[in-house]
Amino acid sequence: MRVRPICAAVHHSDHLIQNSGSLDRRIRAFQCWVCATAQGLRLFYTPMASAIDQMTSELPCGLGPDAYSRWRASEIGGITDRLERQLILELVGDVKGCKILDVGCGDGEFAVELSMRGAIVVGIDASAEMIDAAKRRVVGRTGDIRFQVAKAEHIPSAAEQFDVVTAITILCFVDDAARIFQEIARVLRPGGRLIIGELGKWSIWAAGRRVRALLGSTLWRRGSFRTADELRGLAQRSGLVVETVRGAIYYPRCSAAARLMSAYDPLLSRHTTLGAAFLALCAVKPRGPD
Ligand SMILES: C[S@@+](CC[C@H](N)C(=O)[O-])C[C@H]1O[C@@H](n2cnc3c(N)ncnc32)[C@H](O)[C@@H]1O
Repeated sequence: MRVRPICAAVHHSDHLIQNSGSLDRRIRAFQCWVCATAQGLRLFYTPMASAIDQMTSELPCGLGPDAYSRWRASEIGGITDRLERQLILELVGDVKGCKILDVGCGDGEFAVELSMRGAIVVGIDASAEMIDAAKRRVVGRTGDIRFQVAKAEHIPSAAEQFDVVTAITILCFVDDAARIFQEIARVLRPGGRLIIGELGKWSIWAAGRRVRALLGSTLWRRGSFRTADELRGLAQRSGLVVETVRGAIYYPRCSAAARLMSAYDPLLSRHTTLGAAFLALCAVKPRGPD
């Protein structure tokens, strides 16, 4: 009678050893599969990531004017750019006669759009190549618009000069976003508005870009993504009063999804910023006591 428990124990431990052996094998097989998949992804992505980075590495944000033109010319780029632009223009409102500073203006496409709507526009960008492209864009056009190479950390302007400041997807590539908010708050006149467009943190696009960073993209290693609350905090700490934060681009980064889902983007934008690849903040510089 005393033998049974011993036998049972031996059987039980045998069983455990057999099971742990097969568990070990399974864990090892799983590890091999994970390594092989990671290697495969790396082989596929790394040349692409470094090719993109090599093409663009001389620019402060890593994206040159040609990369921008190619993006806008692609189907997904065209749809995405249109939706982002639509949201920013909605927040900017009527700009006729307004003095606007576009910080990090890139190749000047948005600055020109503002000028065509009757604004007096100054565009600044840290990249001389971008400013050259922006200047080429306005050759032969009418309108009060000028471009200048300058860093957002040191805006070459006296205080309280602008009715509106726009800064579209620049903060994601700078080291000290708080400094830039302070500079923008300085050059805004009391009652003037700041419109920021930024890359949202909780989106499929941000997840994909993080994967590209892990796989070697230097551009996305430097890029940062923000939540609506982080953007609000930055604006508030620079003394601005936040009016709204809205989202855009809720579809994954694929042309078919963009085609199918872009019609619902404005609707989602009115209800949530969660899942949005692009965030837009509107904040006002308070008027002092009269
Ligand atoms: C992603 S691009 C966006 C360009 C443009 N705002 C648009 O939406 O088409 C970011 C731009 O910010 C500029 N940039 C990056 N860091 C900057 C800085 N510290 N001061 C001024 N411009 C900067 C880059 O040169 C680049 O043209």
